[in-house]
Amino acid sequence: MVFTTSIPKESNSSSNDRRLSKKMLVAFFCVPMALVLAACIWGAVMTAKFVSIQKEKASFIEEFDFIVVGLGAGGSVIASRLSEVSRWTVLAVDGGPREELSSTDIDPNDLLPVYSFVSPHDPVITSLPLRAGNNKIMYLPRFNGLGGTARLYGGINVRPSPAIMRRWPSNWTYDDLLPYFKKIEDHYCYYYDEKVTGISDANCRKYHGQHGPLQVNPTYVPEFANVSKHFESLCNDTSQLWGGYNADINGERYLGCSLFQRYFNRKGNRTDEQSDYFLGTSFQGYLQPSVINRANLRIRSATMVTKILFDKSSPPKATGVIIQNSTGTFTIKVNKEVILAGGAFATPQLLQVSGVGDQSTLAKARIPLVAENFHVGKNLRDHVAVPMILRVKQMSSTFPNVGKNVTAYVRSIPNGSKSWIIALNTGLRGDNITDLQIYFSNTNYHSPDLFTNPEPRQCRYGSNGHREKQAEVTLRMILQDPSFLGNVTVISDNIRDKPIINFNWDSINDYEYGVFNITIQRLRNLINNTEWGNLFAEEIYPGLDTPIKTFIDGHLESALHPISTCQMGLCSDTRLRVFNISQVRVCDASAFGEQIDANPTATIFALAERLADIIREDYNEFHEPLQVRSLTPHVATGPTISVTSMNHLKDYSKFFPDAA
Ligand SMILES: Cc1cc2nc3c(=O)[nH]c(=O)nc-3n(C[C@H](O)[C@H](O)[C@H](O)COP(=O)(O)OP(=O)(O)OC[C@H]3O[C@@H](n4cnc5c(N)ncnc54)[C@H](O)[C@@H]3O)c2cc1C
Ligand SMILES: *[C@@H]1O[C@H](CO)[C@@H](O)[C@H](O)[C@H]1NC(C)=O
Ligand SMILES: *[C@@H]1O[C@H](CO)[C@@H](O)[C@H](O)[C@H]1NC(C)=O
Ligand SMILES: *[C@@H]1O[C@H](CO)[C@@H](O)[C@H](O)[C@H]1NC(C)=O
Ligand SMILES: *[C@@H]1O[C@H](CO)[C@@H](O)[C@H](O)[C@H]1NC(C)=O
Ligand SMILES: *[C@@H]1O[C@H](CO)[C@@H](O)[C@H](O)[C@H]1NC(C)=O
Ligand SMILES: *[C@@H]1O[C@H](CO)[C@@H](O)[C@H](O)[C@H]1NC(C)=O
Ligand SMILES: *[C@@H]1O[C@H](CO)[C@@H](O)[C@H](O)[C@H]1NC(C)=O
Ligand SMILES: *[C@@H]1O[C@H](CO)[C@@H](O)[C@H](O)[C@H]1NC(C)=O
Ligand SMILES: *[C@@H]1O[C@H](CO)[C@@H](O)[C@H](O)[C@H]1NC(C)=O
Ligand SMILES: *[C@@H]1O[C@H](CO)[C@@H](O)[C@H](O)[C@H]1NC(C)=O
Ligand SMILES: *[C@@H]1O[C@H](CO)[C@@H](O)[C@H](O)[C@H]1NC(C)=O
Ligand SMILES: *[C@@H]1O[C@H](CO)[C@@H](O)[C@H](O)[C@H]1NC(C)=O
Repeated sequence: MVFTTSIPKESNSSSNDRRLSKKMLVAFFCVPMALVLAACIWGAVMTAKFVSIQKEKASFIEEFDFIVVGLGAGGSVIASRLSEVSRWTVLAVDGGPREELSSTDIDPNDLLPVYSFVSPHDPVITSLPLRAGNNKIMYLPRFNGLGGTARLYGGINVRPSPAIMRRWPSNWTYDDLLPYFKKIEDHYCYYYDEKVTGISDANCRKYHGQHGPLQVNPTYVPEFANVSKHFESLCNDTSQLWGGYNADINGERYLGCSLFQRYFNRKGNRTDEQSDYFLGTSFQGYLQPSVINRANLRIRSATMVTKILFDKSSPPKATGVIIQNSTGTFTIKVNKEVILAGGAFATPQLLQVSGVGDQSTLAKARIPLVAENFHVGKNLRDHVAVPMILRVKQMSSTFPNVGKNVTAYVRSIPNGSKSWIIALNTGLRGDNITDLQIYFSNTNYHSPDLFTNPEPRQCRYGSNGHREKQAEVTLRMILQDPSFLGNVTVISDNIRDKPIINFNWDSINDYEYGVFNITIQRLRNLINNTEWGNLFAEEIYPGLDTPIKTFIDGHLESALHPISTCQMGLCSDTRLRVFNISQVRVCDASAFGEQIDANPTATIFALAERLADIIREDYNEFHEPLQVRSLTPHVATGPTISVTSMNHLKDYSKFFPDAA
């Protein structure tokens, strides 16, 4: 099969999954089809309007001090923090579908036990074929909507190691970020005894925050039953590759076998140990009703920024943005800055369609150059995962609760089995970063036809893995520092034309191969020789007959952590101002200064928290303002998100019960 472009056809072919209910079919296929149709008609109307606006030379209908583009992990934090300065006015928009929960989300009881990424919120991003992996394409689910991809995420909170942060610009070390990692958190170590958490009071205060916007709680999942329980002594064993147990993966040490720390909020009473959790996101945590009701902040969903506007000064200065919503196309003036938070794919794309980027890319897409910035869309990094899948002898070792209500079983300390996360260093490179993370999953992550299926979203994938009739366990191995550097390249000046995603990964190098090889051999050793290993009947993947290299080639997948496509230090300065233009900053995964050996959101949140302080410093706004400036009557009124919608959004677990 020859792929010439990364842009998949919008497909409405039906899934063969018999478990899909009629209701889901309507939601999954008819809604997107209707949206596509509507988008076409809308697009034609918009184009007409857009042309007339261009001719009129942009008459601004509203103005704000700051415009935040995208309300995902980074955008929610910065919108919330900037609007704390009450004399600043802030408009924060997200281009995802309107948040009508009744039409875009699905009854969770219909979803169990399968969960799919497919929804009108998914922009369907796929990569060019990966030469390192049998020319497979990667499907990279994203969530466009309030909260962004952090609505789909597992909420896993892991900070990068001080060692890998030394690759970032010199004033973005782990120590520089530590106050911000703490500022995010309301950490469980403040609420439970050291005997339960293993975290001393001194370390709790040194490394963690209390009363921050996002609760951090450990994960106990009864589903794992004996597989998790029997692993505990191996987890504690200092002779293993991970060097034994680590009570706090975000504390003094970052290597080891630990309990998951996640952005999970406890329902109701913070200290009620029996309370269920729901998934916490930056949107829910930072944009609570008290914040979204601020007179100087306006939040809009279903509002896409199609272009950043610049004047003719040198360097070109951002004067505003063009937005599209269901009413029409409008130009909004910005008095201070445009903050880009569309994520690792959409941020470089918006810069490029606005005329900022590598000259030859823009020329090929016939976009007039506003300012040259070679690094826009370059340096695309990601983590990659390979699964080890084991069949258990007895179903009860893994899934005592199959078929039951999963959300009801996610409990806090001390109920349930512990859920492990392993961060290990193989010693292959003599450095101190995490080479590999391992999670245990109660689903089968394997998706053999993923990359050749013309509609990749149909495939069970990643946390979208399906449960087998015979219980299987996936040890998901995630390589933290793969070698490739890819790029994101637009093909036209239309924001709705998806950019080409090229990971540029031609072969698996000795380090990459070695990390998997060593780990798989050591795990096999445990499987052969321990009580834990005795729970398993068979190694399904890689399988003893398949050479590991062949297996890796065929089974690589993105760990869904794309970053650094407008890399700090290259594409922007260390105050996150995009080079060669003025009044534009980046505040999302694209701003990362290098790779991290951790899941991205803790670092995105900390980066956004720090950027808020940097911006305050730049405008000398450290003190509470003397006068409160309200959005009216200085700017036109317009719809903003209702508090009712906000409250609905709070309990993500209702809609995404299996996201992990
Ligand atoms: C299945 C899955 C599981 C994951 N699990 C974890 C995990 O457990 N822990 C972890 O740390 N990370 C996890 N991640 C990664 C994490 O979700 C992302 O790294 C993070 O959300 C990226 O944040 P961001 O702010 O860069 O972009 P996003 O969160 O993607 O937000 C971008 C937002 O901008 C909007 N937007 C884009 N362009 C425009 C435009 N032109 N106009 C208006 N709005 C626009 C989009 O609609 C979107 O809402 C996971 C990812 C996936 C897919
Ligand atoms: C593992 O270590 C933890 C923390 O030291 C301890 O509480 C637990 O009892 C140990 N478990 C086993 C099986 O050794
Ligand atoms: C929270 O719940 C616990 C357990 O039910 C109870 O002891 C405690 O008083 C409650 N705290 C508050 C602040 O309501
Ligand atoms: C900024 O513009 C100058 C002059 O055109 C160019 O030399 C430089 O490489 C540009 N910077 C980036 C980051 O591309
Ligand atoms: C799992 O653990 C339970 C209780 O600890 C035990 O009764 C059961 O036999 C175990 N099952 C297996 C397959 O080990
Ligand atoms: C599933 O659990 C949730 C949370 O406890 C509960 O609200 C819901 O009614 C349950 N659904 C079913 C089908 O039992
Ligand atoms: C959780 O554990 C506590 C203490 O061991 C126990 O009293 C309680 O019944 C358990 N609750 C559930 C829901 O299992
Ligand atoms: C790794 O950490 C160890 C222990 O802290 C230290 O002795 C060693 O020098 C570090 N190695 C590198 C390459 O930084
Ligand atoms: C993207 O990377 C590929 C592979 O190295 C290269 O061929 C292509 O020219 C790059 N595109 C841009 C715009 O840099
Ligand atoms: C893979 O690891 C095994 C066991 O450690 C070792 O014997 C073998 O040589 C390794 N293979 C390669 C190609 O490094
Ligand atoms: C594990 O046992 C299998 C089957 O007996 C054997 O082929 C394999 O070499 C063993 N592997 C290790 C790492 O001990
Ligand atoms: C980092 O240091 C450079 C050079 O001293 C300075 O210009 C820049 O503002 C600093 N960045 C931050 C975030 O403090
Ligand atoms: C679209 O944006 C314009 C300009 O801000 C605003 O007046 C209008 O109310 C918006 N329409 C919707 C449906 O949000």
